Amino acid sequence: MRMLKKQLEYIRSITDFVPEIAIVLGSGLGALADKIDVKAIIEYSEIEGLPVSTAPSHKGRFVFGELQDKTVVLMQGRVHLYAGYSSKQIANPIRLMRLMGADKLILTNAAGGINKDFKPGDFMLIDDHISCFVSSPLVGKNLDFLGTRFPDMSNAYNKGLKAAIKTAANNSNIELKSGVYVQLKGPQFETPAEIKMLSTLGADAVGMSTVIETIAAVHCGFKVCGISLITNYACGILDKPLTGEEVEETASFVAPKFEKLIKEIVKAI
Ligand code: HPA
Repeated sequence: MRMLKKQLEYIRSITDFVPEIAIVLGSGLGALADKIDVKAIIEYSEIEGLPVSTAPSHKGRFVFGELQDKTVVLMQGRVHLYAGYSSKQIANPIRLMRLMGADKLILTNAAGGINKDFKPGDFMLIDDHISCFVSSPLVGKNLDFLGTRFPDMSNAYNKGLKAAIKTAANNSNIELKSGVYVQLKGPQFETPAEIKMLSTLGADAVGMSTVIETIAAVHCGFKVCGISLITNYACGILDKPLTGEEVEETASFVAPKFEKLIKEIVKAI
């Protein structure tokens, strides 16, 4: 609590910008930050105690500005469990963006497609998630000033936002699949046996982020929505090895379309 307050004070010493919408930019989407009307930038490393991103192609900074006539704060680069950070550290920037004033959160990521109807390049609206392979950011003493001890997760991905996103995608002729996202710790990709298990459990897409952020965000009162870019067939679907390069390549290839979708979403919500 004291740390969050101190971090917020530091941010407020630099900018009094109040965002309506917070957006976490996943793999391939980082360039969106160069296309908004930028008002301020703060590197994560300037903010005492905030974890810094280490993933390939991820910068590590908050970018404040205007997009589609809305005030936004972008996380250009996120933090992952596989970098050695805890779930609580991953919650830190999400909570800060809420304390800055944002009340809607758009989470984006790159994911492997488990659902056999998905192909690389598809977008999946996250309908729901499976969190039981990662630890909750809410364990330990509850931060009562942020939210309740036992938050409801039945509307984790906000119904109203999901409806608005489906309409926006439809109106701009962008095909949007929908499904359940599961977060694993990584950094290794899954085995074919794990993918079979995840499919049996009801997962449509797998990745190494997002779920912890959603839990922290729901707890502190954000309305949350999420989009996965399917960058590859999940392991074992094709008889070929999966690499990080393949994920990055698809993500950069589809980036312009992904940017367009996010802009339409920002306009619609
Ligand atoms: N598995 C886990 N994380 C991922 C994948 C995947 O197949 N693709 C992109 N991120």
